[in-house]
Amino acid sequence: MHSIFEYQQFISDYLQEQYEEKEPRNLYEPIHYILKLGGKRMRPVLTLMSAEVFDVDYKKALPAALAVEVFHNFSLIHDDIMDAAPLRRGNETVHEKWDINTGILSGDAMLILAYQYFERYEPAIFKDLAKLFSKTALEVCEGQQWDVDFEIREDVTIPEYLKMIQYKTAVLVGAAMKMGAIIAETSTENANLIYDFGLNLGLAFQLQDDYLDAFGDPETFGKQVGGDIIENKKTYLYLKAIEFASPSDKLQLNQLFSIHLEDNFEKINTVKNIFNTSGASSATKQAIQDYTFKAFETLQKINIDNTKKDKLKSFGENLMARKV
Ligand code: IPE
Ligand code: IPE
Ligand code: MG
Ligand code: MG
Ligand code: MG
Repeated sequence: MHSIFEYQQFISDYLQEQYEEKEPRNLYEPIHYILKLGGKRMRPVLTLMSAEVFDVDYKKALPAALAVEVFHNFSLIHDDIMDAAPLRRGNETVHEKWDINTGILSGDAMLILAYQYFERYEPAIFKDLAKLFSKTALEVCEGQQWDVDFEIREDVTIPEYLKMIQYKTAVLVGAAMKMGAIIAETSTENANLIYDFGLNLGLAFQLQDDYLDAFGDPETFGKQVGGDIIENKKTYLYLKAIEFASPSDKLQLNQLFSIHLEDNFEKINTVKNIFNTSGASSATKQAIQDYTFKAFETLQKINIDNTKKDKLKSFGENLMARKV
């Protein structure tokens, strides 16, 4: 197996190889723009790692890995429209740099491009990959709709939140890993276990994304810090704060999350303060650790040797330590 850095390199090299200048420019330029901004490339790295964990060369998994990454980038373009986000990976979002219509159509094209990468596999594998991908992509849409629905609801529960993040984020991480297993033609049991590993890692990942959205360093985070607070997102931080806060803080939080302001400076500071003093921040950090450890438990059941388990475990540990 290779290092995470090497896997990232394999993906950007492969992406570079696929590049061709195409018309109309206003459709393809935003696609190249968002893909070139990079990001962590965590999902395709997991696809390549998963293939090698089950003893197949990472090269065989490159098209599927890129499909997952292109789909992820498509979902980011549309997500940034839905969340009115100005910044992505330290740069202007696609709909800010171009406009909303461009973001919609370039995003649509990316979903199709993602599918086309699966055509590079033989029929039996193609079928399994496409089936998993369709199921996952629909779940992501469902999760995204819940996320938006929750903005104007005051009675969102923790189980509802967990289901929402499972759908919008975790299923794609699970699917990225299961694709590696499908390509390696390992046992169904192994494929399902690696999916569960990815799913729990994905839950931890979204919890941490929520945490960093409030407490990340604006210099390095690459997204607008406080964006979830501005948009009244019902994150784990928020739900735990509502659960733990004093009656007066709870009232203030409810009030602040029912309005949209021009100037959000004070709102963000007040809310972050309540997140910290209520114990919501530490509860979120605890939950990140709990889901990561749950993922590690699943790993123990997979029929692979320990050095490979250690590789996947250290990937999970690195994710927990991330700042972007
Ligand atoms: C952002 O994903 C969207 C979420 C599901 C939280 P990443 O944090 O993986 O974004 P990039 O690809 O590294 O920029
Ligand atoms: C995004 O969740 C999930 C998908 C893109 C499907 P977020 O809205 O929290 O992602 P970021 O924080 O904008 O990256
Ligand atoms: Mg967003
Ligand atoms: Mg969103
Ligand atoms: Mg986020």
